[in-house]
Amino acid sequence: MRKLLNNDLSGILIANHSDMISNNLSREHTLELVGLAEDIPTLPDRFLKIQNILNHPDSSAKEIAEIIQTDQATTVMLMKIANSPAYNPMNQPINKLSQAIARLGVTETAEISMSISLLYGFAIPAGIAKIRCFWAHAYAVGAISKILINKLPDDLDKPDPEAMFLAGLLHDIGRAILGIRVDMSYFEQKKFTAHGQKLIDAEEKEFGTNHAEVGGIILKKWNMPDDIIEIVAGHHQKANSIAGEVCSIADNLANGFLGHYDNIEKVYFALNNRFIENAEKALIKAGLIAAPEEEILEIDLPSLP
Ligand SMILES: [Fe+2]
Ligand SMILES: [Fe+2]
Repeated sequence: MRKLLNNDLSGILIANHSDMISNNLSREHTLELVGLAEDIPTLPDRFLKIQNILNHPDSSAKEIAEIIQTDQATTVMLMKIANSPAYNPMNQPINKLSQAIARLGVTETAEISMSISLLYGFAIPAGIAKIRCFWAHAYAVGAISKILINKLPDDLDKPDPEAMFLAGLLHDIGRAILGIRVDMSYFEQKKFTAHGQKLIDAEEKEFGTNHAEVGGIILKKWNMPDDIIEIVAGHHQKANSIAGEVCSIADNLANGFLGHYDNIEKVYFALNNRFIENAEKALIKAGLIAAPEEEILEIDLPSLP
């Protein structure tokens, strides 16, 4: 096991775990490692270009096609989705990226493409299976957060659905950063595969902080909008905003229903009507929307480990 230590802030020393007297780092020490200016992890180029397109409401399908067309993995997945029964009810197959984008729309295309760009372009020190699971979960939380936010009444103070998707997609980025900057064996350790409070407790014990706080710090360094930073930094706290609560409900739903999905594409196809029904029940249970009269509320969310 390797762990990164900083003897002083001018350099990083990579030490063997066996050299260490204690596993536990103080919060201050962990945050120093996270915040070191050198080699700060960056979001993939393709992610940033697509985010930029999403920020401009008049951006065209042509612009996004130009970014995606050089990437085979994304193109193949978009074609598959565009030719699936949901988008192709008349069974008229298409074979051009531009047609796929026209069927899916710029926003959906952008969300899928950003997620895939992270899978292939954001280096996490873990085996490929774990990396796939990590981004499948991230995509699931982004997509479910958006489903949930769209179900809430418009008069509630809520972020726009695209910001909600982005916050969900990046909600656990602090876990990746702990693996990259603080403890390269993070993804190999069983205690860090827990969910919810159990995971937070394990991280606090080892690092004096947790992935939510670390996520907030890195998003600030990446100049992400404040509302997204707040959601990510607070996604394991007792909800202090509707958006924070939605992200945490989405996290539970993703862990409960799609916990072992290892593939963004599978998650995409799993988010079907039955899932939306459960999303509604979760919102009713959280008191965020009203239950239809005389309906017996029973959400069959599997209990989390
Ligand atoms: Fe988390
Ligand atoms: Fe999560």
